Amino acid sequence: MATRRLFFAFWPDEHLRQAVENARNRLFPLSGRPVATAGLHVTAAFLGRVSETRLEALKALCGPVSPLTITLDRLEHWPKPRALVAATTRVPDDLRRVVDGLWQRLDRLGFAREARPFKPHVTLARDIRSVRAGLPWKPLPWPIDRLYLVESVATPDGVAYTPLTDSGPPLSGAIA
Ligand code: 2AM
Repeated sequence: MATRRLFFAFWPDEHLRQAVENARNRLFPLSGRPVATAGLHVTAAFLGRVSETRLEALKALCGPVSPLTITLDRLEHWPKPRALVAATTRVPDDLRRVVDGLWQRLDRLGFAREARPFKPHVTLARDIRSVRAGLPWKPLPWPIDRLYLVESVATPDGVAYTPLTDSGPPLSGAIA
């Protein structure tokens, strides 16, 4: 049975992508591996490997959401996944509503909610064993108005993230 590795995400427009990239550039030198700029995103719901037969039902769940803005106001080093992430100090209620609503609909399709608690973040770099104190980070607003279904594909150059459109070809490809 053919499967795809999928997750729902808040995908940045080019302006926001550049703002994250600029903020990340101020953190260098970093010991690890920066996530490719084109692959930066905030995950809304992680599904993992899913039968291709479910693709259309999942695509039907993406699209516009009531606009809101989260603020990535803190840098965190997550030792276990060795990730450097920009995260939110608190999860805004309106974001929680979007994500809870998504999981309710996923539940009806038979998908079990992920065990890991929802913590909105953008992974900036991987293979980070430690970070020096005082890395510069200014609160970064991340406007949200749409939910994307994204495919993760392993390639010889790393993992490529591709947002899938409701119909037709993918929006763009990205190597992380
Ligand atoms: P990460 O950036 O913190 O690793 C594609 O892999 C996206 O799904 C990434 O944003 C990744 O988060 C997230 N992800 C991967 N495995 C996950 C899991 N088991 N639970 C929740 N999110 C996961």
